[in-house]
Amino acid sequence: MQNNKDSNEAEAYQVRKLEITDKSKGFMELLQQLTVCDPVSDEEFQNRFEELKSCGDDHVICVIEDATSSKIIATGSVFIEKKFIRGCGKVGHIEDIVVDSSARGLQLGKKVVGFLVDHARSNGCYKVILDCSDDNKAFYEKCGFKEKEIQMVKYFI
Ligand SMILES: CC(C)(COP(=O)(O)OP(=O)(O)OC[C@H]1O[C@@H](n2cnc3c(N)ncnc32)[C@H](O)[C@@H]1OP(=O)(O)O)[C@@H](O)C(=O)NCCC(=O)NCCS
Repeated sequence: MQNNKDSNEAEAYQVRKLEITDKSKGFMELLQQLTVCDPVSDEEFQNRFEELKSCGDDHVICVIEDATSSKIIATGSVFIEKKFIRGCGKVGHIEDIVVDSSARGLQLGKKVVGFLVDHARSNGCYKVILDCSDDNKAFYEKCGFKEKEIQMVKYFI
């Protein structure tokens, strides 16, 4: 019985790559829980989707869809930077991790980060990095990250 429950839950919460139809499944509304995220038109969404798709494995956005409600309840992205240092090494940059407020604490954030880390590793990155607030430090430590140096930023808007 427990095994059935576990496999049903695993099926309900699978990580997959973003699909164009995810806009109508609440993907943009989910991003609004992360930061400023103004609405975009279907055309704008499609253009950005195609642009990212043309980057292939170098820029991946993943999601978890709740199989019951067909809503996108978790997402994250990884961008693979190609360098000259470290023998033309590659670095993965994880960004925009968010889990729907109603689904937090179910290990979905960890699952999304794990998917992105695996993607970076299997695509030849020698490390994967991200920025986060003090509040989220413990979460990323649970995902296997450690604190290193500081973040700097200059905003243009
Ligand atoms: C941060 C966030 C993505 C975590 O997602 P989540 O699905 O609730 O986290 P998980 O259930 O996968 O948690 C994994 C582990 O981290 C712990 N954890 C999660 N958030 C934590 C926090 N803020 N502080 C301390 N520990 C935390 C969990 O207790 C769990 O521990 P366990 O493995 O020992 O049980 C989610 O709270 C969120 O979307 N926050 C708003 C957006 C945001 O701040 N995103 C991060 C941008 S850098």
